[in-house]
Formats: sequence, C-alpha cells, structure tokens
Amino acid sequence: MSKGTYSFTTPIYYVNAAPHLGTAYTTVAADTVARYQRMNGYDVAFVTGLDEHGQKVAETAEKNGMTPQQWCDSMVPAFKESWDLLNITYTDFVRTTEDRQTRTVQKFWTDLYKKGFLYKSAYEGWYCVHEETYYAESDLEKNEEGQFVCPDCKRPVRRASGEENWFFKLSAFQNKLLDYYESHPDFIRPESRKNEIVSFVKGGLQDLSISRSTFDWGIPLPFDKGHVCYVWADALLAYLTGIGYADDDKRAGEFEARWPMQYHFVGKDITRFHCVIWPAMLMAAGLPITHTVFGHGFLLTKGEKMSKSRGNGLRPADLIKIFGVDAYRYYFMTDVRFGMDGDISMERMVQVYNADLANTWGNLVSRVPGMNDKYFDGVVPNASPTASNPLKDIAEIIYPEYDAAMARVDFTQAASVVQKLAHRANAYIDETEPFRMAKDPEKREELAQVMYNLLETIRIIALFMAPLMPNTSAEVYRRLGLGAIDGIVDIEKAAAWGQLPFGNRVEKGEALFPRLDESLIEIED
Ligand code: MSP
Repeated sequence: MSKGTYSFTTPIYYVNAAPHLGTAYTTVAADTVARYQRMNGYDVAFVTGLDEHGQKVAETAEKNGMTPQQWCDSMVPAFKESWDLLNITYTDFVRTTEDRQTRTVQKFWTDLYKKGFLYKSAYEGWYCVHEETYYAESDLEKNEEGQFVCPDCKRPVRRASGEENWFFKLSAFQNKLLDYYESHPDFIRPESRKNEIVSFVKGGLQDLSISRSTFDWGIPLPFDKGHVCYVWADALLAYLTGIGYADDDKRAGEFEARWPMQYHFVGKDITRFHCVIWPAMLMAAGLPITHTVFGHGFLLTKGEKMSKSRGNGLRPADLIKIFGVDAYRYYFMTDVRFGMDGDISMERMVQVYNADLANTWGNLVSRVPGMNDKYFDGVVPNASPTASNPLKDIAEIIYPEYDAAMARVDFTQAASVVQKLAHRANAYIDETEPFRMAKDPEKREELAQVMYNLLETIRIIALFMAPLMPNTSAEVYRRLGLGAIDGIVDIEKAAAWGQLPFGNRVEKGEALFPRLDESLIEIED
C-alpha cells in the first residue's frame, strides 16, 4: 500500500543549450528525492521537460537553417542521453511543443480569460528580445554608449510602443500573495529566498503581459489567434501537463490525485516566476498551490557562476568518465549544501571521492567481504542478529534523522548520518581486530558475531546510500546475495537491524571506488 502521492518537478529547461552541470544539478537532486520517496513507500511523479517556444528559439533555428520544430527535435536527444547517463528516473518528460501542452495552455488561459483575469491593452515601454520580457523605463540600465540596456542580460532593449498585448491582472494578487507567504511558512525555501520575495512583492506588482504578437513561435491564445503565449505563461503550465492535466481520458484521475505537488525544485534565478507569478496564476484558476518552491543556489567555479559562455561549462559526461555516475551524484548532492551557493572544483571532487567514497564506504565494502572470505569461506556466518553492539546502536537510530533530512532536501545531512555509521564500522574493525581473533579457536563465535555485525552494517548503509548512489548500492546488495534494492518500498522496515540471512554467499568483487590520484586527471576547470 502506498503512503500516497509525492510529486515534484525540475524546471522545464530551455532548448538553447545542451545540459551542463547547472541543469544536471537540479535534475540529480530531484532524482535523489524520487528514489528516496519511492523507497519510502510513496507513489512518485517526477516531471521534467523542455521549454521550446519563443523568439530566441525561432531565431536560433533560423541561424542553423532549420525550422523551430526541427531545431527543438534536434536538441531532445542531448537531454535524454544526459539524464540516462545520470540515472535519472523521471516519470514524465514534457516538451512544450507537444499537443497535450497546447491543450493545457489553451484550457488554462481560456479559463482565466472567462473569469475576467485578462485584459487587452497597448504596451508603452521597452522590450528585451533576449529575455523576451517587457521593462518599465525605470527598470533599465544604461551602457557605456548611453543606450538603455536590459537589467538582466545587459543587451540593448527596443522601444515597444503601442503593441497590443494580453495582460494578466497580477497586481490584484499582491495582498493575497503576502497573506499566503505569511500563512504558509514552507512555501518558499530556503528562508533567505523568502525575504527576497516578500520584499519584492511588498514593492508592488505590475500586471503581466502574457502574450506576444510580434512573432508566432508559441501557442496561440484561443480567444485571440493573432497572439501566442509568452514563454513563461506557457512553460510553467508544463507542470500540470506532466501529471495528466490535459489527458482527460488517458490519465483520468491522475491530476486530481497528484495536485498540489510537494515541490518545485528551481535555481534561485527563477524563484520570482515560481513564487510570485505561478501562485497568482493558480489562485486565479482556483487551483491549490504547490507546497514548496525550493530555490537552490548556484554552483560556482572560482567564485563565479559556472556557465558555458564563461568557458567553464563542463559537461556531466566529462566528469562521469573520471569519477563514475554515483560519485558524481554523491559529490554534487553533498559537498554543496542544497540551497546555498558553493564552489565546485576538480581538486575538491577528488578529495571528497577519496575521503568519503574510496577510504570510507568503498574501503568497508572491500575489507569486510575480504575478511569474511578468509574466515568463513565467503558465507554469512551464523550469529545472533540481535546481540547488542555499537554498530546496531547507531544503525537503529538512523532512519528518523535521515528521513527528516531527506524530507527537507538536506542531502548533505542525510549523507553525513550514513557516513557516521561507515566511519564507526571501520573503527569497529580496528577495535575488534578480527585478524587476531581468527588466530584463536576459542574466539570463533565472537568472530562470527563481529563479521555478522559488519556485513549487516554494510547492508544498511547500502540501503540509505541508494537514493544518492543507486548503482553501487544495487551492486552491494547483489554481492550480499540479496534481491533487487530497487523493489524496496519500506526503507524503514528494510533498515531494521538483523535481517541479513545466515548462509548467504558474499562476493568480494572489485573496488567500488578505486582511489584516484589527482595528478592523473587532465581536464580544464
Ligand atoms: N526555461 C526556464 C525554466 C522554466 S520552468 C517553468 C529556464 N530554463 S534554463 O534551462 O535556463 O534552466 C536553468 C536552470 O538551471 C535554472 O534553475 C538555473 O538556476 C539552473 N542553473 C543554471 N546554471 C546554474 C549553476 N551554475 N548552478 C546551479 N544551477 C544553475 O530557466
């Protein structure tokens, strides 16, 4: 029996650039949640996808000698391949050029039109083609030549005078939003982002232009066919599409069961769209609001935001080649606390790999089965599964702390709770000195107990590491002669001490994380 639904999203990524470490970051975080909450008994929906409309896409397509649709189609494999490489278990991949997204967008905005939340008006002001956004003159900056430039991308803006647009009455939601933030303290996380949003909304809200008539690469508004939907007013709705909002027959009941969602995971640069515009749209539609928008920080290299244009846009595949996918996931999820900005570097990645994975977890997984081969012919020895010992003491209190950390997406804390057990297990080997016991036939039973305790600890660590490092945990389960770890839907029960069956054949296998020498790594960062 499932505990209920647990649904969340990554941003719907722009198709203009192939996935990089930044987009992979949000996606791996969402996948860690997906894997954990499945093991925790929830019925998970994990929506990701591609944001394919807008003038920028149309222009890029033209430059590449393709139609916009051809261009978008050509970008899809790069995303899907990267997500496969990272072992991402999304449940829906929404492309905003799919028919079902057109249905969602048209249904949603027609509803708001009928409810009186839209009006048509001529726009006097400034427009940035790159950001596809209108700006008031007071928002603009000037460049060295004295030209007005976009406050976001710093490119020159053009005068938009008299363009007719459809506007959403966002300004009417100012107080409703402020009340909502007040009464739903978990809506915006982490806390620092909340303060930013609250003061922005307190400063007053402008109505939002949700249509464009100067180009046509977008979803036409059914009540005014000469207008296409503004990219954000389109892409946000992909979250609804991904859980069946517009597939009335095929996925009947799914939307109702899954909405509102638990989380939208986004980078801090797009929290305004998710914490101001999006809840106002949902309020207008009479739909409940997602429980939490989590705005994570930026990955920085040498203190600067990592980006392709700065030439430091490494691809996930480059790092996976060196470290393997599990170490990649572990490093990005744990070394920078989710929510904060943090520096990443090859040096640091090698350090974390060697310290946490090669020397701690990997070391335990090679040492213990190695000893067990020698002393018990590679078979789980018969011992008391309930005998008190320091590893059992720690293992038995992991779940609540780990579960709470995972629920608030603090992967650093979740991993540290598990690593504590791994450290303790390595220390336990040094304290009990199994190699000495093995020389004394009178200590045979004690040795069996020590080996049992260690093997059982390995089983439990593998379970808790599985959301972060699915491949290695599955491999450890296999080596312990256990069934597929993927099928586990009650991690609390599975992690209860004393379940490793006597007599299971344990395989030593290759090192899970062979030590890396930093000087061998030739890659620019
Ligand atoms: N299409 C919009 C999202 C629409 S959601 C309805 C968009 N797409 S994007 O492709 O630009 O998404 C980028 C995402 O990756 C953002 O969440 C952004 O914060 C994240 N990152 C891009 N570079 C990043 C880092 N250097 N570090 C961490 N994440 C960053 O925005």
